[in-house]
Amino acid sequence: MPDNSAMTTPAPLGPIAAGTNRFRPGPKAAAARRAWTAEGPVLFDSAEIYGLGRSERALAGEALVATKIMPHPWRRPGGLADALTASLARLEASTVRLCLLHFPTRWRDNSGWVRALAAEVHTGRAQGIGVSNHDLGQLREAWRVANEEGVPLEVVQDEYHLDKRGVEAEILPFCQEHGITFQAFRPLDGGRLPSSEALPFLLERRVQPVVGTLNPDHVREALGYSKQLARVSPTI
Ligand SMILES: NC(=O)c1ccc[n+]([C@@H]2O[C@H](COP(=O)([O-])OP(=O)(O)OC[C@H]3O[C@@H](n4cnc5c(N)ncnc54)[C@H](OP(=O)(O)O)[C@@H]3O)[C@@H](O)[C@H]2O)c1
Repeated sequence: MPDNSAMTTPAPLGPIAAGTNRFRPGPKAAAARRAWTAEGPVLFDSAEIYGLGRSERALAGEALVATKIMPHPWRRPGGLADALTASLARLEASTVRLCLLHFPTRWRDNSGWVRALAAEVHTGRAQGIGVSNHDLGQLREAWRVANEEGVPLEVVQDEYHLDKRGVEAEILPFCQEHGITFQAFRPLDGGRLPSSEALPFLLERRVQPVVGTLNPDHVREALGYSKQLARVSPTI
C-alpha cells in the first residue's frame, strides 16, 4: 500500500513562526525566507490583507503557510471559499497548513464562518483551522462549532507580550485545557521590547511567538531562542 502519511498527517507547527505582514515580493523577503528555513521548515504567518495579497505572493512555493481570511462586512461565509482560492493562487499552492478567521464578525453570528473554515479541511485546501482576535465567548463558540464539524480548532492567535498579558486570565487557560496551540502576535510589541527578554518569556510559557522581521540576523536570533527554550504545545 502506498505511504500517503505525508498527505494525511499535517506537519508540526514548530516552536516559533515567521510573521510576514511586511513581506513583499523581492530580495528582502527572499533573504528572510532563506534565513527562517535555513535549518528546517518554519511556519510563515500571512493574511490575505497583508500588503493586499503581496505578503502571500512573497511566500509563493513556501512549504508551511498559515493565512487569514477577513470576514469583511460585504462578504458572507460562502465567500470564504473564493477568498481561499485567491490566497492559494497567490501562494502558488494547493493547500495551506492553517487557515484562520482573522477577526470575528462584529454584529452577526460567527458560526457560518467557522463552518466554512472547517469545510476547507474536508476539501484538503487547509490542513488545520484557527481564529484570531476572538474574545473568550467568541472562542468558546468557535471551538464548539468546529468540533461539531469534526475539525478541532488547532490554533488561536492573539496579541501577547511582556507588556500585554490579558490573555493569561482566560484565553490561554482555555487553549491549554483544549490542546489548542496559542500563537502570540506582536511578540516584541512592534520592536519596542528586547528580543532577549520578550521571546524567552513566550517560549517558556509554551506559546508560539509570531515574530515579524525582515532582517536575517534577527531571524537567526529568534531561532536561537526557540532552539534553547522550545517544547511548545502538544501539537508542536
Ligand atoms: N492576527 C492579527 O490580527 C495580527 C496582528 C498583527 C500582527 N500579526 C502577525 O504577527 C507578526 C508580528 O507582528 P509585528 O511584526 O507587528 O510585531 P513584532 O514581531 O512584535 O515586531 C516587529 C518589529 O520588531 C523588529 N525586530 C524583530 N526582531 C528584532 C530583534 N531581534 N531586535 C530588534 N528588533 C527586532 C522588526 O524589525 P526588523 O525587520 O528590522 O527586524 C519589526 O520592526 C506579523 O508579521 C503578523 O504575521 C497578526
